[in-house]
Amino acid sequence: MSVIEKIKAKAAADLKHIVLAEGTEPRTVQAAQKIVAQKLAKVTLVGAKAEVEAKAAELGVDLTGVGVVDPAACEKTPVYAQKLFELRQKKGMTLEQATELVTKNTLYFATMMLKMDDADGMVAGAINTTGDVLRPALQIIKTAPGIKVVSSCFLMDVPNKKYGDDGVMVFGDCAVIPNPTAEELAAIAVSSAQTGKALADLDPRVALLSFSTKGSAKHENVTKVQEATRIAHEIAPELNIDGELQADAALVESVGQLKSPGSPVAGKANVLVFPDLQAGNIGYKLVQRLAGAEAVGPIIQGLAKPVNDLSRGCSVDDIVSVVAIAAVKAQG
Ligand code: ACO
Repeated sequence: MSVIEKIKAKAAADLKHIVLAEGTEPRTVQAAQKIVAQKLAKVTLVGAKAEVEAKAAELGVDLTGVGVVDPAACEKTPVYAQKLFELRQKKGMTLEQATELVTKNTLYFATMMLKMDDADGMVAGAINTTGDVLRPALQIIKTAPGIKVVSSCFLMDVPNKKYGDDGVMVFGDCAVIPNPTAEELAAIAVSSAQTGKALADLDPRVALLSFSTKGSAKHENVTKVQEATRIAHEIAPELNIDGELQADAALVESVGQLKSPGSPVAGKANVLVFPDLQAGNIGYKLVQRLAGAEAVGPIIQGLAKPVNDLSRGCSVDDIVSVVAIAAVKAQG
């Protein structure tokens, strides 16, 4: 069973309610039908009812079992507006602005559904950027208790199965924090380990990557990774974490033993933490393209409730997978 098949099986075992903010987007409408047919989650599409139905008819999609909610007509809209105003008035938001946002911006409406427990998870990003999907979540849902920062990771399933756990690895952060501080890097390491455990049943062995292994090079960027490793040990002493490690020292047993002897991580890492977003984003795309890996994500981590982003190039099946991930995260 592939990693995504396992996640789908978990989702199906305890159905959660996922709201899809881009309810008139064609791939999203098709995915909603598939999710219901495969019994992976309960789904609600957000959008003007007539538009959603017209899109479904055009695509030949049967919406039986799929919820549709229209922000312009929903009785909860004023309640969401009032709550959004209360949450954001210190930041200068007026009730009029909050009303406009929940009525006209389906990302804000769907995020408020999640906030008010009218959904268990939210997925969007087929037509909106990562920043636009995340901003309402960062402002409204906020971080989970004990987690200082929201970040992301990819579950990588590499076909040659040589590294990680039978080819399965977590790569973080590949989509959210452009230039993390040492403290943020430590949080990414801990959250990525938690995601690997929750979604792929990994026993995490976390490597904080650098161009240096254990002081082999001296540079402020290396010092940052060393500091992040120290903080990660402090906040999660139970986890197997090591750094700074070069990628080969993290993955290849013989190199790991040579460069970091006795490390519980070196040579057998299954969670790779990249020093910044450029490295993380480039790294996952290289492995995806050059090694033919399945890259599941970006999986947003560290939020108090599950919000998941899609790539704008996503397929219908990608949306189905990301909804399954949100559903499993919602199971807790
Ligand atoms: N964790 C927790 N809270 C955060 C984070 C974070 N990582 N980032 C911002 N916030 C909070 C801020 O504290 C602020 O809260 P407040 O308004 O209550 O004070 C709120 O979110 C908004 O903060 P801004 O600084 O205005 O956020 P910004 O508009 O810069 O957006 C974002 C944050 C969207 C995550 C930004 O960092 C970003 O665009 N990251 C890169 C995304 C991207 O382009 N990824 C690559 C493509 S994805 C791919 O290829 C798969």
